[in-house]
Amino acid sequence: MIFRHITLDEQVTVCHEGETVLDAMLREGRDVPYSCRQGACQSCMMRSLEGMPPEDSQKGLKNVLCKQDYFLACLCFPSQDMVVALSHQADFFTEATVVSKVSLNQETLLLTIQCKDALDYYAGQFVNLKRSDGLMRSYSIANSKVHTHKLTFHIRRLAGGRFSEWVHQELNVGDILSVSDPQGLCFYLPDNQGQNMLLIGTGSGLAPLAGIIEEALEQGHTGQIHLYHGSREMDGLYWIDEMQALQQHYENFHYTPCVSRGDAPDGVATGRANDVAMATLPDLKGWRVFLCGHPDMVNQTKTQAYLNGASLKDIYSDAFHVASSSLE
Ligand code: FES
Repeated sequence: MIFRHITLDEQVTVCHEGETVLDAMLREGRDVPYSCRQGACQSCMMRSLEGMPPEDSQKGLKNVLCKQDYFLACLCFPSQDMVVALSHQADFFTEATVVSKVSLNQETLLLTIQCKDALDYYAGQFVNLKRSDGLMRSYSIANSKVHTHKLTFHIRRLAGGRFSEWVHQELNVGDILSVSDPQGLCFYLPDNQGQNMLLIGTGSGLAPLAGIIEEALEQGHTGQIHLYHGSREMDGLYWIDEMQALQQHYENFHYTPCVSRGDAPDGVATGRANDVAMATLPDLKGWRVFLCGHPDMVNQTKTQAYLNGASLKDIYSDAFHVASSSLE
C-alpha cells in the first residue's frame, strides 16, 4: 500500500492509494471546501506549493490556473507527497446582496441577488454561492445574461441539506452572499439561431433551462424551442402560468408540463418528461438538446436523444447539481 503525505496549514493528511486528496482530508475531519465531488464546481480547488499535481486533477481549469499549479482536490490521486494551500477564493468571488425570496412551490424558492460586480456568464451556467462561514453549494443561474448584476436561482429545499435549509429558513433580504465566477459547459450560444432546440428538466432543473429559453428568445432564436418540465406530482411543478404565457407570446416556443404519478389536469402530460418528449419528437436529427435534473434521467435521456438522431456534440447536460445536493 502506497501512502502520500499531503500537508495543508502545517498539518499532514495521509492519503491512501486510490483515494483523492479531498476524500483523505474529509476522512480525517479536515475543514475543506467542496460541493460536487466530481470535478465540476471547482469549489475544492487548491494550489500545490510543493509537488506536481497530476494532470487529471487540473481538468477544466483555466490555463492560467494550471500553470500556477492549481488543482481540484476531488480529482487528485497524488503521485507524490505534496504541500498544498486552499485557493485564494476571495480572488474568484464577488459580493452579492439578497434582493428577494419568493416561493415557487412548497419546496422551491426563487432567490434573487444583486452582485456588486458585473458577472460575465452564459445562460445555463452555474455559480457557487458561499455564506460567511465558507459553506457553499452550486446553483444554476435561472435568468438570461441581459442582467449582468442581477442573478436568480431556484433553491429546492432538501431534507437535511445544510445550505438549502439555511437559504429557506434564515437567509434574509439584505443579507450578503459570495458568488463565484460562472462555470459549466451547459449553456446557450446564439450561433445557429435556426436550429431546433429540445430542453428537458425535472424539478428545479428548470432553472438553467429557463435562463436558456429567456436568452434564446431575447436573441431572436428562430428555430422551434420545446420545453418539457417534469415532476412526480403536480406539487413539484411550478411556473406553469409563466411558461404558458411565454408560449402564447412566442410562436416558436412550446411548453409541456409532465407528471409521472397521479392524475394530470388538462394541459399536463402523464409520464416522465424524457419519455413524453422522446415519444413526441422521434426525429431529433440536427436538434440541440439541453438536459438538466437527476443524473439517472440525464444519462438515460442522452442515450434516447442520440438514438432519436441528435448528434452527441449537440447534447448539453448538467446533472451534478442534483448529485451534489444529495451530498449535503
Ligand atoms: S470540483 Fe471538486 S468538489 Fe466540485
